[in-house]
Amino acid sequence: MDGGQSGVIVREALPGEDAWALDLAVRVAGDQVPPTRDAAGPLLAVNVERLFAFCRVREHRLLIADREGQPIGFLLLLINFPNEVTGLPEGYVAYMAVVSEERRRGVARALLTAAEAEARRCGMQQMSLIVTEGNEPAIRLYDSLKYVVERTVRCKNL
Ligand SMILES: CC(C)(COP(=O)(O)OP(=O)(O)OC[C@H]1O[C@@H](n2cnc3c(N)ncnc32)[C@H](O)[C@@H]1OP(=O)(O)O)[C@@H](O)C(=O)NCCC(=O)NCCS
Repeated sequence: MDGGQSGVIVREALPGEDAWALDLAVRVAGDQVPPTRDAAGPLLAVNVERLFAFCRVREHRLLIADREGQPIGFLLLLINFPNEVTGLPEGYVAYMAVVSEERRRGVARALLTAAEAEARRCGMQQMSLIVTEGNEPAIRLYDSLKYVVERTVRCKNL
């Protein structure tokens, strides 16, 4: 797979890169905390580990953005994941992140474009994901690739 971003290829993870991706996911976990919530670091890390464990035992792809043999970003994709409303199988972006030094260079766009191609190749007709209110880089990324909002999660402090 080649995501098209200059000098960067998107490929499936090599053995051991799951741990690298998990480490990056834990480091950026704070970006996913909505402004309405308090969050404790250790519990956030446990939750990210739980998400990775959930994906590992399902049909998934761990895509790595690679610059000169070094991983610089990842996207964890579920295939044949049942949509929570319709139950129909779809591609689902469980997590993605790019190392901070490589941001705004099109790496996430390359990862998501490659994930869409892989989901399509597997017969998926839709792709979905959840993004946190206030995570502007991610929201703008998904807007730019034409992801539309179809449901929202509401919360109230008690
Ligand atoms: C969100 C994230 C993955 C984006 O990665 P990235 O490689 O920097 O994104 P790209 O360079 O591919 O950006 C593609 C488009 O997204 C939008 N975008 C990305 N980062 C942005 C920012 N900081 N501000 C405004 N728009 C941004 C732009 O439209 C951009 O296109 P442009 O540069 O041509 O204007 C990265 O910021 C990240 O790892 N954040 C922490 C983890 C996270 O929040 N993951 C998302 C979980 S839902």
